[in-house]
Amino acid sequence: MPTQTPSPNLPADSALLSSPLARGPGALPRQRQLIQRLKQAILAGQLPAGGKLPSSRALSEDLAISRNTVLIAYEQLTAEGYVIADRQGTRVAPLSAPLSAPQSAPLSTAPQPSANRTAQRALPPATATRLSRIVATRAPSDSSLPMTPGTPALTQFPLNAWRRAQDRALHAAPATTLGYGHPIGEPALREAIAQYLRVSRGVHCDASRIIITEGAQGALALCVQLLTNPGDTAWLEDPGYRGAKSAFHGGDLNVVAMRVDADGIVIPEDAWRTQPPRLIQTTPTHQYPTGAVLSVARRLDLLERARRAGAWIIEDDYDSEFRHQGEPIAAMQGLVSDAPVLYVGTFSKTLFPALRLGFLVLPEALAQTALPSVVEMLRGGHRLEQLTLAAFIDNGQFSRHLGRMRRLYRDRQAALREALATHFRVDHEVLGGHSGLHLTVRLPPDMPDQAIVAQARQVGMNPSALSSFAMAPRPEDNGLVIGYGNTSADHFPTMIKRLGDFARQARR
Ligand SMILES: Cc1ncc(COP(=O)(O)O)c(C=O)c1O
Repeated sequence: MPTQTPSPNLPADSALLSSPLARGPGALPRQRQLIQRLKQAILAGQLPAGGKLPSSRALSEDLAISRNTVLIAYEQLTAEGYVIADRQGTRVAPLSAPLSAPQSAPLSTAPQPSANRTAQRALPPATATRLSRIVATRAPSDSSLPMTPGTPALTQFPLNAWRRAQDRALHAAPATTLGYGHPIGEPALREAIAQYLRVSRGVHCDASRIIITEGAQGALALCVQLLTNPGDTAWLEDPGYRGAKSAFHGGDLNVVAMRVDADGIVIPEDAWRTQPPRLIQTTPTHQYPTGAVLSVARRLDLLERARRAGAWIIEDDYDSEFRHQGEPIAAMQGLVSDAPVLYVGTFSKTLFPALRLGFLVLPEALAQTALPSVVEMLRGGHRLEQLTLAAFIDNGQFSRHLGRMRRLYRDRQAALREALATHFRVDHEVLGGHSGLHLTVRLPPDMPDQAIVAQARQVGMNPSALSSFAMAPRPEDNGLVIGYGNTSADHFPTMIKRLGDFARQARR
């Protein structure tokens, strides 16, 4: 049997025993102070494991506090495992290495800055490499500034109608609505979205295959989680959507850039063999950011090739509601039956980004295998927002709002085109068609887009640099992505004139 070494007693001159506890207004209750003081001393190694604490009587006399206060403090420390109480008294429990500070550090009643060793710890190299790929390519900026790509007309949102829908949803909701909802979203909302997608976007779907997500970003992350393993290859449009790139890097995927031309994504013939993808990210209706529409020939080819390769296409249909000329372009998902397409949608453009509601439509074949796991992976929340949105769609407010916004954005885009033609006075090419909330303008390579954008931000305009959307920018990726969703038509002449000045100043 091991012989038991006697417990060392605390030194009689310990600051712990002698320095008085704080008193008076604003001071913490004494038992809280004592507990804190003892915990800090134990964690810092100043009270070594096995060390015997003074008797409650002695400590209460030294600190001039009631014995009961000491007893309660000791009880609390015992309950939390800092000390062990037995017939011999109260001893410091054996803990792993002290968290901070040399033995001589003064004991104080004030909270110590925590030794934040977690923050200092190096990440495993593979994790650090993965995270380092998710680098910011956009300057921190206020997304409500004029010309921000993708920001809708927030001042035009029918807040009163939304508030009324919210009130009605709240009123009708039984108390059980405050509990967890269906993991993949409120059935009423999924039903409303299914109906809308079938009629307006030509999507093959029913509510059972729709998952409500935290915006399109949540849907992209879910695609990665469900369908890939680290190291798998994902093709990304280039220039392309930075949110998709982050989601892919977050899943440690091998991201391969696929160039985009006036007909959308271009896939070199040998890529299917040399870099076979698991995921293919696309924005077929309105390529982000160039505005190209993926031609039907390329759509059909992509669908067929993906099917043969066992790859999944992500169709991000983020702003297709706003087509300003001609007929709406139907979704690629609905072109053939059982398309290998995960269809992603969002209410960030049609309503407002802070709503953080988007959705993912799973293909039938995938829904059967994946849904049982998805149901375990998610928890149903934001129920009142979802119910409000369902009511907003069902009672016709959503389509009325879309109609108003379509007219507004059409006028704003026309004003922007007109201002570019009249006031820019810089050689440029407007890319893409008549859709969405932004226009992309290609500039001569000797006018660096990043420099123009930096100047524009100084004066409160927030266009994006086209080159910041490319994985390895080429000379033809030099340009400006100009949002018009949140910018009044009558501001464009002055703003575009200023952008023209900045472009000429930036000329190398
Ligand atoms: C291509 C694309 N997809 C999706 C989104 C919307 O993402 P979320 O729904 O996460 O706000 C945006 C927003 O800018 C976008 O540009």
